[in-house]
Amino acid sequence: MTKTAIFISGRGSNMQAILEQVHQGELGKRMQVGLVFSNLPQAPGLLKAVEAGVPVACLPVQGRKRAEYDALVVELLRIYDIEFIVLAGYMRILSPVLVDAFPRRIVNIHPADTRRHQGLDGYRWAWEQGVQETTITVHYVDSGLDTGEIIAQASVDLRGADSLQEVERRGLAVEHALYPQVLSQLLA
Ligand code: GRF
Repeated sequence: MTKTAIFISGRGSNMQAILEQVHQGELGKRMQVGLVFSNLPQAPGLLKAVEAGVPVACLPVQGRKRAEYDALVVELLRIYDIEFIVLAGYMRILSPVLVDAFPRRIVNIHPADTRRHQGLDGYRWAWEQGVQETTITVHYVDSGLDTGEIIAQASVDLRGADSLQEVERRGLAVEHALYPQVLSQLLA
C-alpha cells in the first residue's frame, strides 16, 4: 500500500475520480491517500477532500521563492509519511528540491500530448486547432514544464464537438478513467 499525496490547485475532479477508485476499485489495494495538498486555500477541491474524509493541508506561497516553498512542502510530506505524489491540476512548476526528494515518484496528468502542447489551456489549444482528436498524457514530473517521461496516453474523440465546453467534457471523462487506471498499474 503506497501512501500517496494528491496535489491540487482547483476543482479537483481528477482527485475525486482517484478517491472513488481508491474507495471502490482496484486502486484501493495499492494506494492509500494520506494527504490532499494545495498551494491555494480557496481551491474548491480541498472542501471535496474534507467531505471525503481525507486529511488536507494547504501551504500558501506568500512570496516564498520556489525552492524555499518546496522545501517546506517536502517537510510536510515527511510528516505524513508520503511516498508518492499525484499532481492533479496543481498549478506550480516543481523545483529540484521537491523532484529530487521523490525520484520517479511524482506523476502528472496533462490534457494534451506533452510533445505537442505544454503549459496551460490544453483543451482550448485543441479546440482552436479544430482537431478531430486530442491526447491525454500521464507523465513523470521533472523540473520542466510538462517535459517528464511519458507513462501513458489516451485519445479523446472530438468529432462533432461544437464548443470548448464539449471538448473539455469529453477530455475530462477520458482523464478520469485513465488516471486511476495508470496509477493502479504503476503502484502494482
Ligand atoms: C485537468 O485538465 C488536468 O489534466 C490538468 O488540470 C486539469 C485539472 O482539473 N493538469 P481538475 O482539478 O482535476 O478538475
